[in-house]
Amino acid sequence: MPIIAIVGNKGGAGKTTLCVNLAAGISREHSIVVIDADPQGSSLQWRAIAGDNVNFPVYAPTFSLREQAKQYAVKNEYILIDCPPSVHASQTTAALEFADLALIPVQPSPVDLWATVHIEKAINEAREANPGLKAMLVINQLEARTTLSKLVREVLSEIALPIADTAIRRRAVFRNSALEGKSVFDIGKRGAEAAAELDSLIREVT
Ligand SMILES: Nc1ncnc2c1ncn2[C@@H]1O[C@H](COP(=O)(O)OP(=O)(O)O)[C@@H](O)[C@H]1O
Ligand SMILES: [Mg+2]
Repeated sequence: MPIIAIVGNKGGAGKTTLCVNLAAGISREHSIVVIDADPQGSSLQWRAIAGDNVNFPVYAPTFSLREQAKQYAVKNEYILIDCPPSVHASQTTAALEFADLALIPVQPSPVDLWATVHIEKAINEAREANPGLKAMLVINQLEARTTLSKLVREVLSEIALPIADTAIRRRAVFRNSALEGKSVFDIGKRGAEAAAELDSLIREVT
């Protein structure tokens, strides 16, 4: 029962977008639950709109994230945790102490790239209690032709964390599908390219 914590040190990197779309993709073949540990509650809001469009639950965090995850793990193959936008938040720290994998979306923008240094530190600290913790950076909102997007892998290579081979492009369909309470897997041809990227990322993380 792999537990994947989606973490970051800034809002807007794409944690919630990755979380709900990854969950939707994984749910096609596996039982999965999402815990929305971000007080913003965006994954919960998306789930409320989604209704019958999706077949996995999104839960609010309870008093102990670890106990909650342990309980869901009895009957589910995957647990995804959408964490708050700070590595210092108690829910992020708690999730990193028992997760199998920390997935870290990063935008190709200088401010986001600078923030990843703190994430590397937080991962290393969490490994003292959770030595098996794996971590992976995922480039999100890539714009193929911009200079920054071309440089992003080079810049990120200074961080001692692996980078997913799959980068997620900036695509309007991520916003539009959320508006409809759907994932990119549920909107047919319009979501095909985004869904293919997600599938490729799912192969890397499952
Ligand atoms: N790959 C993408 N392409 C286009 N828009 C995206 C992409 N990823 C995220 N977004 C948009 O960027 C904004 C921030 O994403 P969100 O997932 O809410 O980030 P976080 O949860 O890290 O704060 C949202 O409006 C979302 O729809
Ligand atoms: Mg969010």
